[in-house]
Amino acid sequence: MEKTAAELLSPAETLRGRAMAPDPGLEFLAARLAQQDFAATLLGVPASRFQAAYSCPDCGSGPDIAHGRPGYLLDGGPAPLALSASRRSGWVLCAAVVHPEPGLRVGVDLENAAGTEFAGFDDVALTRQERQHLGALEPGQRPHERARLWARKEAWLKMTGEGLRVSPDSLDVLDSPGLWDLALPDCAEGRELPVGLVAALAVMSR
Ligand SMILES: CC(C)(COP(=O)(O)OP(=O)(O)OC[C@H]1O[C@@H](n2cnc3c(N)ncnc32)[C@H](O)[C@@H]1OP(=O)(O)O)[C@@H](O)C(=O)NCCC(=O)NCCS
Repeated sequence: MEKTAAELLSPAETLRGRAMAPDPGLEFLAARLAQQDFAATLLGVPASRFQAAYSCPDCGSGPDIAHGRPGYLLDGGPAPLALSASRRSGWVLCAAVVHPEPGLRVGVDLENAAGTEFAGFDDVALTRQERQHLGALEPGQRPHERARLWARKEAWLKMTGEGLRVSPDSLDVLDSPGLWDLALPDCAEGRELPVGLVAALAVMSR
């Protein structure tokens, strides 16, 4: 029998979604369902056998935690998956490595160039070298490049698990091994992707 969203997601995930305003809450829950379906498809098991297992560097892990690094329990044990996800402009991007070697970590990020176009962004988000790199480009090329750098930073910081606890202007991502720009298709699921979306992936073993 088909399970409902509330039966598939953990109570902590449902609570987190309900605490949001209606539209962001629905987007959050839909993304969590898509992510669970993605993980289940990769491992070839029904999504109903997964239980969300998040871990936050500040709050720890356990059934009440629905934020931080994503993961799942499968029939009670850790699902063999290094997983990451990002939501932007109504889309979710998931990345995973199945049966990862011990210590392998993944981070993925989806950005919209419009989201990085505000005064002061470069001063708080970019290193001096990155600001010089941006300044050397034609003005028309800068918005895409700014978003590309930001996606690389967030992918990296999800991969390490630190998130924005690390000051982004201290992290240089111009040429970091383990980081890739992802080429996005024009369409997915029969819908056009918004113009200006960029994505990055970080994968590294400890
Ligand atoms: C991780 C972070 C850089 C990404 O934020 P963002 O660009 O706004 O949002 P994205 O949609 O791209 O990514 C969010 C996803 O990152 C992942 N994520 C969050 N914290 C993570 C961490 N510490 N390690 C790895 N992945 C993490 C989750 O999958 C999250 O998905 P969710 O919204 O379904 O929970 C940012 O949320 C952050 O730095 N958070 C740390 C601070 C924090 O969370 N404080 C509150 C808890 S104590």
